[in-house]
Amino acid sequence: MNFKIKNICCIGAGYVGGPTMAVIADKCPDVKVEVVDLDVERIKKWNHKDLNKLPIYEPGLAEIVGRCREVNLFFSNSVDKKIKNADMVFISVNTPTKKKGLGAGKASDLKWVEACARQVARYSVGHTIVVEKSTLPVRTAEVIKSILKESVKSNVTAKTFDVLSNPEFLSEGSAIEDLINPDRVLIGGENENAIDLLSSIYSNWVPKNKILRTNIWSSELAKLTANAFLAQRISSINSISALCEATGADVREVARAIGSDKRIGPKFLDSGPGFGGSCFKKDILNLVYLSEYFGLPQVANFWESVVKLNDWHQHRISQLVVKKLFGTVSGKKISILGFAFKANTNDTRESAAIRICKDLLEEGAILSIHDPKVEMSQISRDLKNENQNFSKEGSWTMSEDIYDSINGSDAVVILTEWEEYTKIKWDKVSTIVRRPAWIFDSRSIIDPKKVLKNGMNFWRVGDGLN
Ligand code: NAD
Ligand code: UGA
Repeated sequence: MNFKIKNICCIGAGYVGGPTMAVIADKCPDVKVEVVDLDVERIKKWNHKDLNKLPIYEPGLAEIVGRCREVNLFFSNSVDKKIKNADMVFISVNTPTKKKGLGAGKASDLKWVEACARQVARYSVGHTIVVEKSTLPVRTAEVIKSILKESVKSNVTAKTFDVLSNPEFLSEGSAIEDLINPDRVLIGGENENAIDLLSSIYSNWVPKNKILRTNIWSSELAKLTANAFLAQRISSINSISALCEATGADVREVARAIGSDKRIGPKFLDSGPGFGGSCFKKDILNLVYLSEYFGLPQVANFWESVVKLNDWHQHRISQLVVKKLFGTVSGKKISILGFAFKANTNDTRESAAIRICKDLLEEGAILSIHDPKVEMSQISRDLKNENQNFSKEGSWTMSEDIYDSINGSDAVVILTEWEEYTKIKWDKVSTIVRRPAWIFDSRSIIDPKKVLKNGMNFWRVGDGLN
């Protein structure tokens, strides 16, 4: 293999494209990495002098961007020009669930991926390796290939392409750690030479035995399956949390007991407010759609139940808050601690907090929301149908300070496991809440004794002693 990848272009400067390319640039100083996006504001933020103003918050990301930006890592809106210069183009754009038309509500909307394929077909020069980084339905590579093939036919200059699938398994909040120390890197494709070239990028820091090669369809399907299995574990443990509350068992003890079985393992057994994030729900729904499409309704129903359980569990928590507060929250102040879908990220996509806050607003609560990383404008977009006016029933405001948020509240509802919430001084809280007060811990991060000894009521997920 004499040819080496020197110029990479990544289309999509989002949660995956940004951190992934930053790590590639850091680990491969001889490769020039260009990250491009149509979103002008997002690119401005990636180029912001103040590294605290990057569009994405991930521990360790700002340091890497600080080291590589304008050295071998560049962010711009020049999509066409950067495709032209690239030997390898990563497609890392959004693939949300389709909102209308065929497959609406389940199938992935591939219009952004298709647009990328057309851009690559049009602007690439010579041989280009196209890498699917976005999560895609099985057999999407076929669509990309057929678009690229047309450009080969219709162009006078010689253009050739290889298409590889290289799904991303990073988790938000630990993206940099996941990228530097991945459990595996998966590359699916037909052309061994193209696979070798992509593999040579990763082997700058990933041990060879962790770089898995499969056929392209297995690679696409493995990504959807991995997310479906992970989400299935959360729905499983959340279903058991409800049973624990009904029977006197404790979900943490059950999780410890089953997780000690090597075949089950201890990870992803934390019961919470229901899984959020941009991908679990959309990827399972995509799997459901594919199963239906291929005439497998039993398979579709099995996976759909994971999403249904999650929806039910989120509502269960909001209903429980209302029930504990004497059946009504109308006009009552409730402090919401955490809006991000998990800790260490500013991402709120599909966050359980959105559903739970909407339910409580519908019941007439006055919410005071705190989150250390989520901006108020984001919360406004997420709760767009609800009032933002902290004076009347069914409205919300944002609080910069945890204790301001709690002050005068009838209840505190912890929805994200931010570390600072583990350090709340419950003796201080007991002097500023309106009694009788309830503390709801949906993330099991509070020591119940500390709340109870200060004379407040306490509920936590899956605790049969609630
Ligand atoms: P994102 O919405 O944060 O970013 C996608 C970006 O692509 C946006 O900034 C958008 O402006 C840009 N874009 C769309 N079409 C474009 C075009 N034609 N030209 C240039 N830019 C374009 O999305 P994300 O969270 O980074 O996810 C990207 C993909 O990776 C999805 O398929 C997702 O399922 C998958 N994925 C996400 C995660 C995660 O943790 N977020 C993890 C693994 C895989
Ligand atoms: C998830 C997968 O973990 C990644 O491997 C995958 O690449 C990514 O989706 C994707 O394709 O987008 P992410 O959504 O960032 O990553 O975060 P997770 O850590 O998986 O958490 C998802 C949700 O499940 C969060 O709301 C989290 O709070 C919840 N969760 C997680 C639990 O309720 N309990 C657990 O034990 C673990």
